[in-house]
Amino acid sequence: MEMSDILIHWYREHKRELPWREVKDPYLIWISEVILQQTKVAQGREYFLRFTERFPNVPSLAEAEEDDVLKYWQGLGYYSRARHLHAAARSIMEHFGGHIPSDYHALRSLPGIGEYTAAAIVSFAWNKPYPVVDGNVFRVLARLFAINTPIDAGRGKKEITALATSLMNPQKAGLHNQAIMEFGALHCLPANPDCLHCALQTKCMGYASGSPQAYPVKQHKARTRSRYFHYLHVVCEGKTWLHRREKKDIWTGLYEFPLIETPEPADFVELQATETFRHLFSGAGQTAVSIVLPDVKHILSHQILYATFYRIEIETPTEAMQSYLQVSGETLNDYAIPRLIQIYLEKDGSA
Ligand code: ADE
Repeated sequence: MEMSDILIHWYREHKRELPWREVKDPYLIWISEVILQQTKVAQGREYFLRFTERFPNVPSLAEAEEDDVLKYWQGLGYYSRARHLHAAARSIMEHFGGHIPSDYHALRSLPGIGEYTAAAIVSFAWNKPYPVVDGNVFRVLARLFAINTPIDAGRGKKEITALATSLMNPQKAGLHNQAIMEFGALHCLPANPDCLHCALQTKCMGYASGSPQAYPVKQHKARTRSRYFHYLHVVCEGKTWLHRREKKDIWTGLYEFPLIETPEPADFVELQATETFRHLFSGAGQTAVSIVLPDVKHILSHQILYATFYRIEIETPTEAMQSYLQVSGETLNDYAIPRLIQIYLEKDGSA
């Protein structure tokens, strides 16, 4: 049997039943793939069901407010994906009459739709022969062919994409793509590939080499940057203050407490000496400060945030606070906020 037939046979016996499987609606496929780029299947399933219940098709997503879309994305992280989904839905309304294009290149022209997502949509929905190459597929192919080129280099990616194309049976593109992804997710695992019970054992060069888990080869790890965040949860008569992150940075479009970021770790005395702090609290009257959550370490894909949360009760709202959004404690949860702030609110009891 050809490798593709073996994979498809394995898939028919072992695949998980998932709400985006067996559907041909390109919208549902698109949403599921973008969510699954962010999280594992178990959590992704819940997000998928909630998101598609609220936004069941392109028009409903296009018509929504961005804040509403972000709210349904809350907790998944990487919010630019949600903003891109929203922008792409609007573009589909404007340029494609509300129908998701079935042409690979037309899809690629939409915000946030890269090679992977476009290939997944056209192959699952229309059986078009474009290979999906995600982390699972990289691993499976790097092992099957004992590829020594690092997969985090351009050359490795090209090599594996070429292999993925040649391996695919174009008549069964959608099925093949799903099969190889599922095989990577369930069987050919990163640390513990179950080679002894593997349907591809006799064809696998990684297995023949004696150390299949040495594949895929990687060149180097991505560098991470440390950042120091100091959040000021200002409280006055049941009210607090937020602002919406506008800059092109993490969490654009999400809400957070007034923030002071320092280039190095800083204690409260150092914070008080900053221009932002003095400006924010000048005229606030008597203040009562407590550190509710010190030194939370929050890991993002290329950054490590070290955050401290101060709860600061004041007598009088200051003029500087007018540039923030004043909200009542009970409505805090109506705003799309980063997971880090959610962790604080759960601890503080204000959530
Ligand atoms: N991971 C990414 N896409 C997936 C899919 N369609 N099914 C299961 N896991 C996935």
